[in-house]
Amino acid sequence: MLDFYLSWPEMIRSALSEWGAYRVEGSFREVVVVGMGGSGIVGDYLQVLAAERGPLPVHVVKSHLLPRFAGPGSLVLVVSYSGNTLETLVAFKSAVERGLRVAVISSGGLLEEEAKRRGVLHVKVRGGLVPRASLPLMLYAALGLLDASGYTVVPRGEAEKSASFLEAARSSALEVSKSLAEWLYSECTKPGRVVVVATHSPLDVLAVRFKNELSENSKLHVRVEVAPECMHNDVVGYEALVARDLCVLELVDPTDEAGVELVDFMESIYRDVAAKTRRLALVGGSALEKLMYGSLVAGLASTLLGELRGVDPLETRTIKLYKSRAREIFRV
Ligand code: F6R
Repeated sequence: MLDFYLSWPEMIRSALSEWGAYRVEGSFREVVVVGMGGSGIVGDYLQVLAAERGPLPVHVVKSHLLPRFAGPGSLVLVVSYSGNTLETLVAFKSAVERGLRVAVISSGGLLEEEAKRRGVLHVKVRGGLVPRASLPLMLYAALGLLDASGYTVVPRGEAEKSASFLEAARSSALEVSKSLAEWLYSECTKPGRVVVVATHSPLDVLAVRFKNELSENSKLHVRVEVAPECMHNDVVGYEALVARDLCVLELVDPTDEAGVELVDFMESIYRDVAAKTRRLALVGGSALEKLMYGSLVAGLASTLLGELRGVDPLETRTIKLYKSRAREIFRV
């Protein structure tokens, strides 16, 4: 698992070699990204990157229910690493049946078959990995597809730069991750500890990614608090805490002054309840580089923490159990 994460710069380069190979015909006003878990997060990242640049809005659907607003002005971008996720297949079928403009990213599976059978654009990414470790393959495939279609969320040059950045940052990211995993092991895995990932906008997506990686690779239960929104609800819950045993991982973009002050304020509240805190400052020039650096540390640290805990980072038993029941639940 560690090697998969450490090969991210090479994954980015392999996605870059296909940049521009696929394009969506015609024009659209918005992108609706459909996907679950490690594939759905691609939608979150596209959304935050597009919001920064503003070429078009990105809506994220992590459900089998395709929203009614998806229409002739939408591109429905369906992402599933395996190509076999039921919710994603159900939403894909409703998009095709409604005659919408659809493009699919998968490593194969039923989605590839269905896309080919129905003449839908299919972007194939390399298979044989787990979805969470293949984030760069799917994300850069999506960025390349949008760029080639005339809707640049990240220009090719910036994507290339991010590969070199991550290559240069790889060994320091591993060192940071080792130390973070040891801290998480000693402070956050004691019985009764509540683990929080705290951050500021627009890093919400990265906090969610950390939560998901800690759940899947380290088998740790985590909650997410994002300022400024958490200042309007979550913080009140600290006034009469039931479980006082908190362990908080703070994520900050050090170039975002308001963001750092927001997290400083959160830290003063955590300190009042004697929480253990640790801060991770993101490095990188562009928003894409910061997201990729943070995601790499999340992957490495959660894998190392899983190993320290004696659990298998690769195995996700309960997801498999759920997937074996999903056909009955959705009656398909
Ligand atoms: C992440 C993971 C899950 C899957 C999710 C959807 O590594 O295993 O979160 O991403 O179950 O499956 P796919 O991505 O194949 O559509």
